[in-house]
This record gives sequence, C-alpha cells and structure tokens, in this order.
Amino acid sequence: MTPSLMRREGAMRALPASALSGSIKAPGDKSISHRAFILGGLANGVTEVSGLLESDDVINSGKAAAALGATVEHLGPGQWRITGTGGRFSTPEAPLDFGNAGTGVRLMMGAVAGTGAGADFVGDESLSSRPMRRVTDPLGEMGARFTTTDGRLPAHLEAGPLTGIAYTPPIASAQVKSAVLLAALGANGTTVVHEPQITRDHTETMLKAFGVSLSVKRDGPSATITLAGPQTLTACPVDVPGDPSSSAFAMVAALIVPGSDITLTGVMDNPARTGLIDTLREMGADITLTPGPEMAGEKTMHVRVRHTQLRGITVPAERAPSMIDEYPVLCVAAAYAEGVTHMPGLEELRAKESDRLAGSAALLRANGVPVEEGEDSLVVTGMGVGGVPGGGETLTHHDHRLAMSGLVIGLGAGSAARVDDIAMIATSYPDFFDDMAALGGVLEPLP
Ligand code: S3P
Repeated sequence: MTPSLMRREGAMRALPASALSGSIKAPGDKSISHRAFILGGLANGVTEVSGLLESDDVINSGKAAAALGATVEHLGPGQWRITGTGGRFSTPEAPLDFGNAGTGVRLMMGAVAGTGAGADFVGDESLSSRPMRRVTDPLGEMGARFTTTDGRLPAHLEAGPLTGIAYTPPIASAQVKSAVLLAALGANGTTVVHEPQITRDHTETMLKAFGVSLSVKRDGPSATITLAGPQTLTACPVDVPGDPSSSAFAMVAALIVPGSDITLTGVMDNPARTGLIDTLREMGADITLTPGPEMAGEKTMHVRVRHTQLRGITVPAERAPSMIDEYPVLCVAAAYAEGVTHMPGLEELRAKESDRLAGSAALLRANGVPVEEGEDSLVVTGMGVGGVPGGGETLTHHDHRLAMSGLVIGLGAGSAARVDDIAMIATSYPDFFDDMAALGGVLEPLP
C-alpha cells in the first residue's frame, strides 16, 4: 500500500536567498491525515480520502489500520480508499510500528483499546523515548490492560472490554484527549473529557462527520466533550485541508528574506491551529488572509506573506496549544526581529520528537543568536533583518521540525546554515525541498 517516497538523508545547507516569490499549495494536514486512516479503519463502509499527506508518519498509521483488519488502497497521489472494519479490529500478529509518530501511536492505542483487540506498539529511537503513560493511564482507568517499558514503548495491550470514564487531562494535549475519545467509541457507558485548555479539535469534528453523536460544550478557554458508547462510525469522504504547521516554514522564510512575497493556498483555518499567524501579526508581519473552500469540515484560507521587519513580543503562554509545533520556526522569526521575544509556557516542548526547547535554543546559538533557555521558556534577542550571522550547524535529534527550522534560518543569514540530517523531514513534509525550491530557496545536500 506504500507509495514510493523519495528518500533524502544526510547533511544539508541553506544558502542566503534573494527574494522568495510564488505560490504553493499547502501540504495535506498531518493531524487530519492520521485521523483519516484511523477513523476510516474503524468505520463501517468505504472512506475515500483525497489530499492525504503521504509522509512516513501518516503512512505508518495506514499500515497499522491495514494490520488491524482494514483494507487500505492507494489510488493515486493523495488518493486513498479505506474499507473499514465496522469497529472490529483484529489483534495483529506483528507489532504495530509507528516510526517517529506520537500522534499515530497514541491515537491508535485508544482506538485499538476501544475495539477490545490487543496489540504490541513500537516506534523508532525518538518515539521510544517519549512518554506514553499520559495515554495508558486514562485508558487503564477505562479498563485497558497496557504494559509499557517504564512508561515508554515498546508497549503491549491485552485484549479486553472498556467502560466510560470522566477525565481531565493534566496536560493540554489533543493526543491524550483523542486517545480517550477513540477508546470511548467502543466503551460501555459515557465518557466525559474536560480540557481546561482547548486543544486542536479535529477528532471531535471528524467523529461527527463519521456519524458519531457527541457533545462539545465550550466555556471560555475550556471545553467538555461527552460521548456515550458504544457507537459505530459510518464512512464518509475526507478531503484533507492544508497543514498550518508545515506552512509555517515557508511563511517565516518569506518574512525574513528581504523582498519576498509568497502565497500558500488551502491552509486550514482553525483557531486551535493558527496561533502562529496571530503571533507573527502581533510582531508586525505583513500577512493577508483570504477565504478558501471548506474541506473536511474545516475552513481554509490562502495566506499571502510579504517580507517584514518583525519586532519582538511576549507570546501569551495560554496560546501555546494552538501553535505548539511552531515554536522552533517562531524562534527563527524571533532571531530576525528587532527586540526581545519572550515565549513562556513551553514545558510540553520537552516531550516532542526531541527536547525541542533545548534543540531550538541550540539552533539559535549555533547561528549566532543570543537566547536564554529557561525550564519552560525561551527568550530570544532579535538581531534584525540582515543581522543573523548564520554559519552554524543544527543537530536535529531525529526531529523534523528542528531540521526544517535549521534550514530556514540560513535563508536570511549572513552565511549558509547547516543541519546534520534531513532524513526526518519526510515524516511530516516530504515536499519541503520541492516547495522551498519552487519559492526560490536554495538548499544543497552536503557530502
Ligand atoms: C497532534 C497534537 C499535538 C501536536 C502533534 C499533533 C494531533 O501533540 O504536537 O504534532 O494531531 O493531535 P500533543 O497533543 O501531545 O500536544
């Protein structure tokens, strides 16, 4: 079922660029693409998906859905057909390997547990070092019998029934919320998830589109989601909107390179995902938004970004969930701003594909940008357009977003910026190189 992905790996450098220009279609959203395979695999009937992000992480979710009993067919670029199991996953013989993908493994843990099946869950070195109790603890309260390796992968799930619970996640995490809701689909009784801070709501939106009855009550910054199980999903088409998180790299590239004027089309416009755009605009960025078509129940927009001299600001901590994946590239924008950018409330960055708080600080230091790294904060002293020395090497630590940020910083710098390994970029944005080249950025593989 795997499309052939062009392999790129090893070191690379980004050369200082002249004005970036042109228009690119935003790559398919990773969160929605994972959920298309998972919900399609659970549903009754045939789910047709278009615009799926064919990245390594997402393909691993597709392979897992197939190993659990769904039929997963690749029809053409971005086009997939999933014949679902009607909520009856079968216990696979081999471990489910999610590679680098926290979203894939955590959501699937909930989905598999809800069907009453068992499974073994494994991942790569980075994923095997990430915390899983945040998911196995609430699923355990529902009756799921997980054994983990000191709270990490490999993990084993013993088949068995679940019952609904009331749960307040101790951290703002869409992955934790989603795992519990997906498990609740097969549980007996009502599950209530109360999130004190709203996180991305794609699971709720897509479950409704698949015919699931659930209620979402918003109250200021919090939300309460109630789902009575068991329920079955009915297949429905999914037209995947563009990914705001991947779009962030080209947006920041255009802001930092003088003379740039670019457009990204079809970017998902969901307030739980667009915190970076709000932040960049507060920093003075020249960003124009025009509405696009609705896709998979989400609004979309076309985003025009013109080079701007940004200014440093304090990013409100409560905004972090709506831009959690964008901090490394926001650090790049902050490096080119005039003045100081304060970013508090970043404790979750330490639990991503790498310790992204430390990795982002190291990226800046390597390229000559002053940064203070706190326990859960970053303070970047901007050097202004044309003021970033560059010339440094970013260590990516198996982290795609550090790799892309470590290249983007070089586009506006005094000298080329290197990254030690670009292999992980394929986990979320395989077209990154082509898209940057289309806009006029020069990225060179290094021996
Ligand atoms: C995701 C949720 C976020 C985000 C990840 C995708 C999702 O993780 O970092 O890239 O699709 O639900 P957390 O929920 O753990 O913050």
